[in-house]
Amino acid sequence: MKIIVKANYESVSKEAFEIISNYIKNNPHACLGLATGSTPIGLYKRLIKAYERHEISFKYVTTYNLDEYVGIDRNHPQSYYYFMHNHLFNHIDINPENVHIPENDIKHIDDIAKAYNEQLKKTSIDLQILGIGSNGHIGFNEPGTSFDQETFIVTLDEQTKRDNARFFKSPALVPTHAITMGIKNIMDSKKIMLIAVGKRKAAIIKAVVEGKVTTEIPATILQKHPDVTLILDTSAASLINKAYLKNENK
Ligand code: PGA
Repeated sequence: MKIIVKANYESVSKEAFEIISNYIKNNPHACLGLATGSTPIGLYKRLIKAYERHEISFKYVTTYNLDEYVGIDRNHPQSYYYFMHNHLFNHIDINPENVHIPENDIKHIDDIAKAYNEQLKKTSIDLQILGIGSNGHIGFNEPGTSFDQETFIVTLDEQTKRDNARFFKSPALVPTHAITMGIKNIMDSKKIMLIAVGKRKAAIIKAVVEGKVTTEIPATILQKHPDVTLILDTSAASLINKAYLKNENK
């Protein structure tokens, strides 16, 4: 696990941007796994700016998003479909046919999960971007999820609903369910880049770096992946044992 610590959110976003933009420059047909949440917004802004400066093109890039709420319309401002179009896809030259975000029609949700999983099995995600929940979830793989889990419909953890209530008019409006890539799908990616900022993430990041691998903290499984980079600000990295950090940065 490689750990990069930067001073603040802006420099974390810049570091993540440089890794991804270089990857796209070297691999114009890259398949990216994308995340939502507040953390990658700065990274997406930089990708849009680089596209506008003609430094990168998404013309041949394919994307797969990690997850989507179930129980709200795709056009709801808090849906991840809306988020991705608003924060990235509407502003770049990606081919809409190459964009994959799990659909969320409740009537067909089991079939949708199955089909998304089949697509993922046929695809190889080159570079997966991850955020992390304060409970250690990646995608919406909540504590207790099996490491063998593939794409599925999850009942959201109480902590996740509390964390995400800030995006909704009232906590009662936070969806109770979501469709998410499973941990196995995430672990099948060739490279993983996890970004985390703020004191709120410090305890969970310490557990991910130093703790034992346990399904109670889903992100600890990343210790078993051969190519993971954590990009953290000083607050999110503040509880990591310093000696450990020094080794990891070598
Ligand atoms: P955040 O969410 O970026 O809004 O903190 C991360 C997550 O829940 O995965």
